[in-house]
Amino acid sequence: MSVVTIAHAGEIATVTIDNPPVNALSQALRQGLWDAVATLDADPAVKAVVLICAGRTFIAGADVTEFGKPPMEPHLPDLVARIEGAQKPWIAAIHGSALGGGFEIAMGCRFRIALEGASVGLPEVTLGIVPGASGTVRTPRLAGVQAALDLVTGGKPVKAAKAKALGLIDAVVSGDLQAAALAFAREALEQPLPFPVSQRPIATPEPGFWEAQQTAIAKRARGEAAPLRALDCLRKAAEASFDEAMAHERATFLELRASEQAQALRAVFFAERAAPRPAHLRDVEPVALRKVGVIGGGTMGAGIAAALRDAGLPVTLIERDAEALARGLGNLKTIFDGGVKRGKLSEAQAAERLAGVTGATDYAALADADLVIEAVFEEIGVKRAVFTELARHCRADAILATNTSYLDPRAIAEGLPNPARFIGLHFFSPANVMKLLEIVPTAETSAQTLATGFALGRALNKIPVQAGICEGFIGNRILKRYRAAAEGLLRKGVAIPEIDAAMRGYGFAMGPFEAQDLGGLDIAFLQREGARAAGQAVPEALADILVRAGRKGQKTGGGWYDYAPGERAPRSSITVAELLAPHVTEFVSMTREEIAAELVGQMAAEGQAILDERIARCPSDIDLVEIHGYGFPRWRGGPMFAAQGRG
Ligand code: 3HC
Ligand code: NAI
Repeated sequence: MSVVTIAHAGEIATVTIDNPPVNALSQALRQGLWDAVATLDADPAVKAVVLICAGRTFIAGADVTEFGKPPMEPHLPDLVARIEGAQKPWIAAIHGSALGGGFEIAMGCRFRIALEGASVGLPEVTLGIVPGASGTVRTPRLAGVQAALDLVTGGKPVKAAKAKALGLIDAVVSGDLQAAALAFAREALEQPLPFPVSQRPIATPEPGFWEAQQTAIAKRARGEAAPLRALDCLRKAAEASFDEAMAHERATFLELRASEQAQALRAVFFAERAAPRPAHLRDVEPVALRKVGVIGGGTMGAGIAAALRDAGLPVTLIERDAEALARGLGNLKTIFDGGVKRGKLSEAQAAERLAGVTGATDYAALADADLVIEAVFEEIGVKRAVFTELARHCRADAILATNTSYLDPRAIAEGLPNPARFIGLHFFSPANVMKLLEIVPTAETSAQTLATGFALGRALNKIPVQAGICEGFIGNRILKRYRAAAEGLLRKGVAIPEIDAAMRGYGFAMGPFEAQDLGGLDIAFLQREGARAAGQAVPEALADILVRAGRKGQKTGGGWYDYAPGERAPRSSITVAELLAPHVTEFVSMTREEIAAELVGQMAAEGQAILDERIARCPSDIDLVEIHGYGFPRWRGGPMFAAQGRG
């Protein structure tokens, strides 16, 4: 079947695109639209053309799967120009999302209308590229330089109402989009036509505008190339002719498309879409989740309950006594109030989220739960006692999950009557914000239970990644290696601020030592001490020396750095230098690039060991864990992708 079909309603023709799943602009679609312009131009009965899409969305952009191949005709910028130059006005009728090349096609049309709730945007920078078919050149002509800059360098789509206010679209409609578009077209034919977008002027911004934006974006981008290059294209659009700006944009697009950053971001794009639906579970039906229990209302339990409520699931929160329950519900209220403060939730929505949580201290309240997630203290005795209660009170077919970070899930599940229904669901803090969810089955976990873990991940809009059982699963195990490697460099005489600066330079928001000071050094210390007490040979970490000296991080006024009271700015510490001096054995000199390469290399080496032991299913799962759980710069693709790039 053709991806482009033409129908007629009196003087108005409708061009319908049907290219599932997201109407991406494949070569066949570009050709279909190209031919449609010719057909309709040649038809004297046609006075206007409505461009509409079948399926879940308007055109979602260029076909990213074609990016690795040589560009094929008709090229997208030519197609946009051809639609704009058509003898009849085209009207884009947008539902779902008009993104990237999709929005560029819409800008080639003489009018744009959108269904309520639809969005438009230019997300190219999130793929490491700039718009390649006039996004940086036509958008400022429609909405001004500032709006274009936000759209193009930020990559975030805007909803129809805002798009209308910005001048990106002409009307927001509700109900039947096709009928609304036909009515709009009839009315438009009664009026003089507006100029094509390419012929509209761009208002010159204030002096100093470009320089200020350059500084702000460079700071935010932390090494990511595309946002700055997008800014450069916009400046060209404002300062040069339309044709010169188009040529500049296209050259930048083609250059970036082949860059390592774009390759990395494309790999992440596809990995993120593959992760929630792993092939080995394709035919397994998950259990329907209607009601979920959470045990423990502390940092993690409250965050997990909030995430469940955000997805509309009713939650029963169990705490050990009335006082702890009040604290737990208070934690939840704080989370939702924060949502209101940040403008993410209305007061009414926050109240509704909270009202959907039933607090209890009696496990009998879980009798009808389909899934229960335990998030109590990280102590095997406490956890086992919880699961004994769950086995007594929950339905025999309820799924029972633990959020443990380091304990062996098999030990937690020991003695459960239905181990096939047990699973690890490892959330990251804050659990209602962080995208990563490690899903940890035991050998006895059923495929259906595992599939339900993934279905939960999808429902919560998380990136679910399957992990096998080992200390720290995927993420915390690599974190341990990373920190040990950073300490290894200290022992060789590399300075703490140099290592942190190197990792910031690589693209992390923080270096390993700053990050530990923020989170606290004591948690990992206590875990090592616990392992030592259990008879394991855990070598002395340099961090242990600091914790024993009372330096647990920012909260104690010092960790790897000193902190002035009430301040978060790290200062090099003479005390730390003295404490560590006996352990520094060499004085090597390393550039920041060498430091980053060493630490990322160590992460990748641990990742390889994890793959060899089948703890992770594929390298891209490891990359997703690092990007979504540990702040690894997305545009580097993750440690496994980065290591591959270096061979
Ligand atoms: N090209 C090729 N495939 C695409 C695609 C694209 N642009 N966008 C999505 N897909 C595929 C996905 O890989 C997925 O495939 P799968 O089912 O085999 O895994 C399928 O379409 C569905 O995607 P989602 O799961 O993301 O579907 P949602 O309904 O959740 O979201 C969407 C829909 C909001 C349109 C989302 O897919 C999206 O944001 N897509 C990317 C849009 C984008 O980045 N466009 C710009 C492309 S670059 C460009 O246009 C350059 C131009 O300026 C020249
Ligand atoms: P927390 O100390 O903030 O909260 C634990 C809660 O469990 C407390 O509110 C406590 O009252 C409650 N509790 C204890 N015993 C209970 C019982 N028998 N019945 C009901 N409630 C009980 O701890 P946090 O940080 O929330 O950690 C919980 C679990 O999540 C641990 O297993 C931890 O390893 C894991 N985890 C923690 C992360 C973090 O960053 N804090 C990240 C990922 C996992």
